[in-house]
Amino acid sequence: MVIGMKHLLKISDLKKAELEKLLTLAESVKKNPVRYAGKLDGLALALLFEKASTRTRVSFEVAAQQLGASSLYLDYVTMQLSRGESWEDTARVMSRYVGAMVARLYKHSDIEQLARYSSIPIINGLTDLEHPCQALSDIFTIRENGLLKKGKKFVYIGDGAFNMANSLLAAVSQTGMSITMVCPAKYAPAREYLQFAKRHTDVEVVSDVRAAVKGADIIYTDVWVSMGQENEKAERIKNLIGYQVNEELVKAANPGVKVMHCLPAYRGYEITGEVISGRHSVIYDQAENRLHLQKALLLTLLGKA
Ligand code: CP
Ligand code: NVA
Repeated sequence: MVIGMKHLLKISDLKKAELEKLLTLAESVKKNPVRYAGKLDGLALALLFEKASTRTRVSFEVAAQQLGASSLYLDYVTMQLSRGESWEDTARVMSRYVGAMVARLYKHSDIEQLARYSSIPIINGLTDLEHPCQALSDIFTIRENGLLKKGKKFVYIGDGAFNMANSLLAAVSQTGMSITMVCPAKYAPAREYLQFAKRHTDVEVVSDVRAAVKGADIIYTDVWVSMGQENEKAERIKNLIGYQVNEELVKAANPGVKVMHCLPAYRGYEITGEVISGRHSVIYDQAENRLHLQKALLLTLLGKA
């Protein structure tokens, strides 16, 4: 299977049918990893990172190795990019050495530049605008829990205006689940992502956290202070303090509700430690599924599926 895209920069780069194929392949990869071993023999995967990472870096490096590829971690500060080399020259040169590249950058326009001049697939490993690999893995986790169905209720709590909220709006809306975004007005979803989601499903944006989780099948939250927002920390905590996912809030949702967080988490802020390790949490499954989904993504983008 080769799907009709070369890069994955945003969720909207994927058509609904492509998303479904990816989930089916990820399921097969998870069930039978040995079948896919060696499928990317001889390939080099570069990871160009401008921000910190645990999951994205490790899951892509392990995915590459298990598929027979090698991986190179490239810290932005040690690249000539940090001294002003252009994205165009970097992209053209890297395309001569490696077969695909994952990039984690601040500005989404930078990854667009990289993709524009690359002749290899570029995968967004997080920018300020989107985190598509996480959202796709999350859809896979929701599916695995039997909740990827029309009529199920997905509730996102917290900062509705940054990368995770954007990618989740774009991805979850295509699954038939309804979406409730619970955010302070200051961090309300971007119009572009809201409009996209509303074209596919019912979406509401509300501010009453307790009322919002009534009937919730999924509760999802992300950090209040994302990478690059450290100078807004005090203000963000003040504005988001009432939006914590805690035991009491989880009790107000459906009895079978699943709680999700992309991690890293700041226990005691957006979520409590009890909820992270509690019986409703699928948070570590989300982290594991990054590996399986990203293997499926690499195989697909490289025409080896
Ligand atoms: N969820 C996620 O992308 O984690 P890292 O920042 O550790 O890669
Ligand atoms: N919104 C968070 C996601 C981390 C995976 C950030 O950008 O820091």
